[in-house]
Amino acid sequence: MTNPALNIVPFVSVDNMMTLVLRVGVERFLVELAGYIEEDFKRWPVFDKTPRVASHSREGVIELMPTSDGQLYGFKYVNGHPSNTRDGRQTVTAFGVLADVGNGYPMLLTEMTILTALRTAATSAVAAKYLAPKNADTMAIIGNGAQSEFQALAFKAVLGVDKLRLFDIDASASRKAASNLAGKGFDITICHSAQEAVEGAQIITTVTADKQYATILTDNMVGNGVHINAVGGDCPGKTELHRDILLRSDIFVEYPPQTRIEGEIQQLDPDHPVIELWQVMTGETQGRRDPRQITLFDSVGFAIEDFSALRYVRDRLQSTGLYEKLDLLADPDEPRDLFGMLLRHAAKQAEVA
Ligand SMILES: NC(=O)c1ccc[n+]([C@@H]2O[C@H](COP(=O)([O-])OP(=O)(O)OC[C@H]3O[C@@H](n4cnc5c(N)ncnc54)[C@H](O)[C@@H]3O)[C@@H](O)[C@H]2O)c1
Repeated sequence: MTNPALNIVPFVSVDNMMTLVLRVGVERFLVELAGYIEEDFKRWPVFDKTPRVASHSREGVIELMPTSDGQLYGFKYVNGHPSNTRDGRQTVTAFGVLADVGNGYPMLLTEMTILTALRTAATSAVAAKYLAPKNADTMAIIGNGAQSEFQALAFKAVLGVDKLRLFDIDASASRKAASNLAGKGFDITICHSAQEAVEGAQIITTVTADKQYATILTDNMVGNGVHINAVGGDCPGKTELHRDILLRSDIFVEYPPQTRIEGEIQQLDPDHPVIELWQVMTGETQGRRDPRQITLFDSVGFAIEDFSALRYVRDRLQSTGLYEKLDLLADPDEPRDLFGMLLRHAAKQAEVA
């Protein structure tokens, strides 16, 4: 007989993920997830690290993002297809696996489309905790698509940002974001240009989707002392900021070998100085040191953030039961008798017929 404990892998569907997030509470989920991300960034050297494995096409990219801390192994499958929304699909979808390094068995399979939006926002907010001007309460969000509300809520939950200035080239996206965030404690202004959106904002989040070198912000739009959370530029040939902004900023990154390929800094010389965010979190390097300094988090999304998210969901799941039991792993009575298991299955099917 098959041992259910070994063949079964807990699977978190989109439905169960939504229930989990709502049961915990979106803002609490973001704060707790931010805590897991910060914890893992603070032990950065223990992780296996590699730039994600990307398969590019004219339409977009499909990527695999693996890492391990020696005890657990995680990976995420994620796509980025900026024109997908035109035919009703998401720009970004994802799923992922957490596995036990000791025996290689998956311990968790989960949707990660929602989880990616949450972990991206939580990472941005953790970075801003170290980099944004003190007491910042106003954020411009340029690009009001799928990620945008999550960014807003993470900055509110982690930093207390409660004034939003929204801009999107598609005004209906801004209206959607404003309506989704209504009643959640924000003072929201919908703006008619990126220039208008950044006025009075101490934090500027760019989270647009376009497969090109875009110029969402030009140099004249960025005043001294601002923190830029640049989320949308995350692929070769896909950036959001004018190069001159980068030259005026202190640039903070997740994993330099990946960010140099995918981030805003692909526009700069390969040896342009950048600061690794994890070293700011451990106190080895300074984050914001001057109120006039422009800080830039050149976010591309790194595997360790997904690992933290998988770890958080695994811990949260234990008490909730919000998963299905997926018959994912072949588990013959005698481990080497895989073919025998197939024969026994054939015999069983014949009996039924
Ligand atoms: N750094 C990370 O970790 C990370 C994680 C997830 C997604 N992303 C990236 O974030 C971006 C946004 O993702 P999404 O899921 O919200 O995409 P989305 O397609 O749902 O939304 C993007 C929005 O940007 C708007 N836009 C496009 N060009 C613009 C411009 N010039 N000015 C203003 N608005 C503009 C679009 O109208 C759309 O509403 C994507 O590029 C995605 O690859 C990054």
